[in-house]
Amino acid sequence: MTSRRIVLSQSAALLGAASTGLLLPEVAQAQPGKVRVGLMLPYTGTFAQLGVAIENGFRMAINEQGGKLGGREIEFFKVDDESDPSKGVENASKLVQRDKVDVIVGTVHSGVQMGIQKVARDTGVLSLIPNAGAHAATRSLCAPNVFRTSFTNSQPTRALGKAMVDKGHKRAVWITWKYAAGEEAFEGFKESYTAAGGTIIKELGLPFPNVEFQALLTEIASLKPDAVACFFAGGGAAKFIRDYAAAGLKGKIPLYGSGFLTEGVLDAAGAAADGIITTMHYSDSLDTPRNKAFRLAYAKTYRMQPDVYAMQGYDTGLLLAQGAAAVKGDLSSKVALYKALESATIDSPRGKWTMSKAHNPVQDIYLRVVENKENKVLGIAAKALADSGAGCKLG
Ligand code: BEZ
Repeated sequence: MTSRRIVLSQSAALLGAASTGLLLPEVAQAQPGKVRVGLMLPYTGTFAQLGVAIENGFRMAINEQGGKLGGREIEFFKVDDESDPSKGVENASKLVQRDKVDVIVGTVHSGVQMGIQKVARDTGVLSLIPNAGAHAATRSLCAPNVFRTSFTNSQPTRALGKAMVDKGHKRAVWITWKYAAGEEAFEGFKESYTAAGGTIIKELGLPFPNVEFQALLTEIASLKPDAVACFFAGGGAAKFIRDYAAAGLKGKIPLYGSGFLTEGVLDAAGAAADGIITTMHYSDSLDTPRNKAFRLAYAKTYRMQPDVYAMQGYDTGLLLAQGAAAVKGDLSSKVALYKALESATIDSPRGKWTMSKAHNPVQDIYLRVVENKENKVLGIAAKALADSGAGCKLG
C-alpha cells in the first residue's frame, strides 16, 4: 500500500513543480468509463436526515449539469457511516480499495471525518467534505486533495457572542454534545462572547448522541443565566428544543445556538422553536433569485424543503462539476484539478463564496431568528469570514 508520506510528498512535488513551471503542462484528456463517486454519509441514527439532504442536494447539482461530470457518466457507491467514528477508516478504505472511487463525498460527523481524512492523506483520493466541521481537516491535517464546502465548527459561533451581548445577555451557560463539533463550536463562542464582554458561567455537556437532557435543563434553571447558547444538530436538536420548552425555560431564558440547532428540525420542533436566535452561513429566507430558484427546484424534486445540509450537498456538486469540467473529466490530472477547485467561485444559494488557502469556505455568516417554521434573516453577523487555517501549510 502507498504510504502516507509518499503520497503527500508526491502531491507536494507536483504542486511545487507546477508553481515553478518545471512540470510539462498536464493535458487533460477525456477519460473512458464512468466517474466513480463514493457517498459516505449517515443514513441511520440522529444524523440520518442530514445525510439524505446532502445526497439530495449533491444529486440535484449534478443533474442540473446533465447528470455527468466533465462529460463522463457517473457511478455511485454508497456507505452508511452511522456517524460512528470507530468505523470511519474501515468505511472510507472500502470505498477506495474495493470500489476504486475517484472521489469521496462525506461526511457529517467530525469524528468520522477524521477517518476519511486519514484515508485521503494515505491514498491521495479526492475528498470533498459536505458538512463535518472538524478543525483539523483544514488546519493541522489539511491536504492538497481535501476540500470542504461547508464550514469549520467554530465559524458560525465566532459570529454569535457579540450578537448575544448586543441584546444585553452578559451571563451565559453553554451546553453541547461533548465531541469535536461541540467542543470546537464552544471555542468560537467563547472567543466571541468574552471579547464582547460576556461571561460564561457554566459549560454543560453530554456524550454524543445522548438526548437525556432533563438533569442539565434543571441545572440551567437553577443557574438563572441571562441566556443559553448551544451546539446540537439533527434529531437531537429537535428533542433539545422541545425539552427546553417543556422544562419551562422558553420565554424565560433566551436560547441561542450555532445554526444547526434549527436546521431541518422546524416541523418536528413546532412552536417550541419560535424565537430561537442562531448564526449560520445560510438562511431559508435569503431573498435572492439564486436562493429562491434553488429552493423551488429542490421542493419540486424532493417534495420537501431544503435546509443547510441540502445546500451544502448542492454546493459540493457544483464544486466537483467545476473541477471536472476544467480537466475535461480527467480527474487524474491532479495539478489542474486542485487548481480549479482552489480557485473556484461557487455561486451558491448562501451567496457567492471562495476557498481559503486551507480549502475551507470564506463566507458570510447570517444572524437568524425562527418565526413560523422558518429561519428568518436578521442581518449579516460576520462578512466574508475565513477560518484561521492554523497549522496548514498549503498555498
Ligand atoms: C460535525 O460533527 O462536525 C457536525 C455535525 C452536525 C452538524 C454540524 C457539524
